[in-house]
Amino acid sequence: MTAEAVATPVVRGLPLVGNALRMGKDPAQFFVDCYREYGPVCRVKVLGREHAILAGPEAAEFMGTKEGRECLRSREFWRGLVDEYGATRTLPGEDGESHKELRDIMRRGYSREAIADRLDEVVAITDRNIDRTWRPGATVPVVRSMQFLVTDQLGELMTGASRPEYVKDIRRATAYLLNVLVTRQRPRLMLRDPRYKRAKARVAELSRTMIDDRSDPGEDAKPAILIDDLVRANRENPAAMPDEDLMICVTGPYVAGIDTVANTTSAFVYAVLKHPEVLERVRAEADRLFAKESITEKDLRGIPAIRGALMETMRLYPTAVVQMRTATRDFTFQGHRIAEGEALYVATTVPHFLEEFFPEPMRFDIDRYEKPRAEHLQAGAYSPYGRGQHVCLGKTLADVQMLVTLARMFHRLDLRLESPDYVLARRTTPTPGPAMSFRVTVGGHRNG
Ligand code: HEM
Repeated sequence: MTAEAVATPVVRGLPLVGNALRMGKDPAQFFVDCYREYGPVCRVKVLGREHAILAGPEAAEFMGTKEGRECLRSREFWRGLVDEYGATRTLPGEDGESHKELRDIMRRGYSREAIADRLDEVVAITDRNIDRTWRPGATVPVVRSMQFLVTDQLGELMTGASRPEYVKDIRRATAYLLNVLVTRQRPRLMLRDPRYKRAKARVAELSRTMIDDRSDPGEDAKPAILIDDLVRANRENPAAMPDEDLMICVTGPYVAGIDTVANTTSAFVYAVLKHPEVLERVRAEADRLFAKESITEKDLRGIPAIRGALMETMRLYPTAVVQMRTATRDFTFQGHRIAEGEALYVATTVPHFLEEFFPEPMRFDIDRYEKPRAEHLQAGAYSPYGRGQHVCLGKTLADVQMLVTLARMFHRLDLRLESPDYVLARRTTPTPGPAMSFRVTVGGHRNG
């Protein structure tokens, strides 16, 4: 042990289950409590497995440093998924040069370029979902409806075609994969479930359809930079993008977006409806934005209240609370020794809830982000999209997608909570977000 190493505290927990129950109930709060009680490093037992927790602003910053990149790897957490699909590698599960090679292939497809000139399309897809599901008088299950909307949008923007008939299969396959193989909150036995097997087969069929469609796109095919770049890499450099990896990579946008974007937009709906003064500002901005026939990315600079409400939602309702890693070698973090091979939770969102960074942290305050306050710009303070080499590749795209979608919904719809004192029910699997039971009523259409 190095001279400066200090003893790392172990979080108290129940025999056998350890801290699984507390963590499963409210993961964001669990990691904040651990940080408050034990400091930036502690160890925790979850269902018999020990993990070290690195938390707080230093942990968030560490992810982006050279040492952080060298000491942390993602491989173990995604290996099960890679094997399950007979692939050789997947973007979130690679590290170092191999990760860089894959990220370079996909960079353009996941960039703002994939959405920047297509905002009117995002609006049109939002409109067709509103007309189908969010009818006056309807009581709408928010998360489910958002999952359909998000898949519709990502399908069209990133793969060239909307695939609503596959939404249920994508949802089911993604939930099983994340629960069983990535976060390991559920036993492997569940992969024998015939419902999962059917969903997996359907997702494989979807992959083949997408690849076939883009191998010979018709004249009027919509752009799909990501799939086109992947198919080209497969043709020109099959060592980097073999057939079995192509199959899994083409469904990447669905897996990456279906929960994260649906959870975040659903939480936004709740948070804004819960704060009437924010609702008023959001509506006023949305109405101004859509006073124009057609919108551009530049127009999104003029909606600080909607942007602030989205950022505040991502602070208080993070859907990616921690990043899971393995230590590649022995290292010391904040005086604590971490051993090679240890499983780690890097709790990057802990500072979201700390008074030192965000005064009155539990207050939904959408003006925190404008200068001079700009509370999120303090080092290590704000990480809704993760940190370091795996930081969300689709973050700009996701921001634009969510801003346009939510602005359009609040422009067109008069939404209401079941009652003004309704408190959001939450779920934690496969990722933390509003419960599937969260519903709102469509009081009427405000516009259109
Ligand atoms: C609210 C929306 C979203 C949130 C909160 C979010 C969050 C994250 C986080 C925290 C990571 C890093 C995981 C890690 O380090 O282990 C990540 C990675 C990633 N995200 Fe997102 N994401 C969102 C939406 C999207 C969307 C819409 C797409 C694409 C359509 C996307 C594509 C990706 C990709 C490709 C990666 C892997 C990057 C890599 O490993 O290099 N994300 N996301």
